[in-house]
Amino acid sequence: MTRIRPTLSVILPTYNESSNLPILLGKLKTALSEVSHEILVVDDNSPDRTWEIAEEIATKDDSIRVIRRITDRGLSSAVITGMEVAEGEIFAVMDADLQHDEALLPRMVQTLQGGYDLVVGSRAEEGGSYGQWSRRRRFISWVATFLARLFLPLEIKDPMSGFFALKRDVFEKSANRINPRGFKILLEFIGRTPGLKMRELGYHFRNRQHGETKLSGSVVRNYLVALFDLRFGHYLSSTFAMYVSVGATGIIVNSLGFYVGEALDFPRVDTGLLDALGPVHLSVPFGYQLAIISNYLLNNYLTFFEVRHRGLDILKGLIYFELISLLGLFVQVSVFQLLYTNGFLDALESEALSKYGSYAIGLAAATVSNYFLNKNFTWKDFRP
Ligand code: GDD
Ligand code: MN
Repeated sequence: MTRIRPTLSVILPTYNESSNLPILLGKLKTALSEVSHEILVVDDNSPDRTWEIAEEIATKDDSIRVIRRITDRGLSSAVITGMEVAEGEIFAVMDADLQHDEALLPRMVQTLQGGYDLVVGSRAEEGGSYGQWSRRRRFISWVATFLARLFLPLEIKDPMSGFFALKRDVFEKSANRINPRGFKILLEFIGRTPGLKMRELGYHFRNRQHGETKLSGSVVRNYLVALFDLRFGHYLSSTFAMYVSVGATGIIVNSLGFYVGEALDFPRVDTGLLDALGPVHLSVPFGYQLAIISNYLLNNYLTFFEVRHRGLDILKGLIYFELISLLGLFVQVSVFQLLYTNGFLDALESEALSKYGSYAIGLAAATVSNYFLNKNFTWKDFRP
């Protein structure tokens, strides 16, 4: 018997959806009675054994396949895994928690067959709604959508949707450029494949009945990184950009520390080291230290989140960071001296330009060298 390729492959990423999945599979059967289809459940070895329940159902239904991933994790990469083995001409992705309306699938298929490349199940389009969302979630979604539309030329009103369908060749064209980390797989497809013919279809977003959302704080951070990569990834590493932004906040912390130190009348100490220095205002090293610590923590939890130090290792990392910062100071001072004292920028024919130019180049040199040293030593397991 020859096998017939289905028209539609529905990809259901699951993580702890054991109560929702059986209900959804039943609903899908009804909704897709007129569409030739297969259903791919991609489960990341859920502790609640969603995969086992899915496999059980699949033994009685040839159109359902279950992929249980043991070593990989993550929503986007699960979706890609599903698409890699899907046999349909059209791929649809939806939450397995009953929040997306399966009844929209046949219209999504028709729309794609009518000449579109990608259809988005949209909460912002006519006939759609966000359902009962908490204010907080509404706000986060609004900010995320706003940022996406600011960074990327988007005509889609609900680019945060996790419910969409596309043609196989759109996947094949863009798959190797897609960032498999993160939540925003739709944005990746749109951002990496210019010129797609897209259409939104409204649907009513439903509340979760069972289980809980897997969206967490780190999702927000990963989202910002992904957005940056989509927009500027060709020119600049997002890790470096994050590192420099953290550095900029350090300047503020440093000044605040100094200000507070002075306001509280921090002592002046005679180091006896250098007469010309006079007694040292402790508020200066205080501001500096405060900035180092806050830079270190921000880099640990933002820039190098994936390989962040935990527990006592946080202290070990801080010691590396301190030493590298000292080295950076040395680099900055040396470069400045080298350029300024030797009059390298004298051609600019302005004392101020030559002085601040030397300063800026020294600062840039120290930033770059600190970045590479921190990346390779303080957070040495980091892989972009
Ligand atoms: N395999 C796998 N691995 N599945 C996952 C993982 C994972 O690491 N994380 C989440 N899932 C599954 C969930 O089980 C669910 O079926 C689906 O992916 C979406 O996860 P939810 O936890 O339900 O996310 P959400 O409802 O908060 O967010 C949804 O709505 C957003 C729009 O506001 C998602 O559809 C997002 O993509 C969407 O942006
Ligand atoms: Mn959901």
